[in-house]
Amino acid sequence: MKEFLNRDEVKVRDLLRPNTKTLQMFQFLSGSPRVQSYLKAANRMAVSRLGYTDHGHVHAEVATWNALRIFDILDETFQPNIVAEGIGDTDDARLVVLASTYLHDMGMVVHRNEHPQASLALAIPILEPKLAEIYDDPAKATDIMSFILHGIYAHDDDTQCLTFEAGITKLGDGCDLTKGRTIIPFQKGKVDIHSVSAMAIRDVIVDKGQEKPLRITVAMDNPAGVFQVQAVLEKKISTSLKMKEAEEARYAAAEKRFAEGLISTHDMIEYQEDLSEAQENYIQSLIDYQDSLITLDKKVGVTLVKNDVKFE
Ligand SMILES: [Fe+2]
Ligand SMILES: [Fe+2]
Repeated sequence: MKEFLNRDEVKVRDLLRPNTKTLQMFQFLSGSPRVQSYLKAANRMAVSRLGYTDHGHVHAEVATWNALRIFDILDETFQPNIVAEGIGDTDDARLVVLASTYLHDMGMVVHRNEHPQASLALAIPILEPKLAEIYDDPAKATDIMSFILHGIYAHDDDTQCLTFEAGITKLGDGCDLTKGRTIIPFQKGKVDIHSVSAMAIRDVIVDKGQEKPLRITVAMDNPAGVFQVQAVLEKKISTSLKMKEAEEARYAAAEKRFAEGLISTHDMIEYQEDLSEAQENYIQSLIDYQDSLITLDKKVGVTLVKNDVKFE
């Protein structure tokens, strides 16, 4: 069985090309003492005080790595808004995705509540001088900033993404749900449906789909992970598109199954040993279903908005 993803070894730098604005922005953010201190403080709030999953620099790195990989897969099929709206090129769009994703949870230093808004307040003074340095045209720098701010703000589960770039940030964030992200609170004794479920997820693999442009495969050691997929990833996927209704109903249904004992904590742990073929098939069908949410009309191009996708 393949070892689970080692989140500490993920390197965004591996996905960046030389002489790009995206690389310049990454070198700035990853080398900025202020950004790194905020991310460290964000984890103090998230992991130490709240017992939540990792929201620090490793999460920033893994979410950004996921987002850029998703961007490159979807970029073959869809045009980012920045390109479609005549604001810039693919490098500009990648820079937006990188900066939004890297900084999206920095506002956790203030509180979990409204942290996307806090991330905006902290990100603006950090980004402004760097964008002014990268872009000669102040109007373009402001346009790029606007896109980054939307990506940060819209990463929250219930907020609708209105650009391709923001949708990618949200998917990159949602795909960071392997066990490594939750292991510290779990080891400290936080045993609930969220931590047990997250501990079941070994890997999240993002690649090209056969029929759909993007395939997200979640490898899990036991069915407890399904809850995490439904509670985190599906929720993010649903608002990375202009989905609608059914969001709360599906989440409530998952919680109800847990409350009714159909997915009990005990049962979840009992399932630790065997990853049966039936489970694999179930997981596969789930992801095919998720996969279908990412089927976008090529003609739409400029946006992740899609109105006619239906839930089963
Ligand atoms: Fe967040
Ligand atoms: Fe996040």
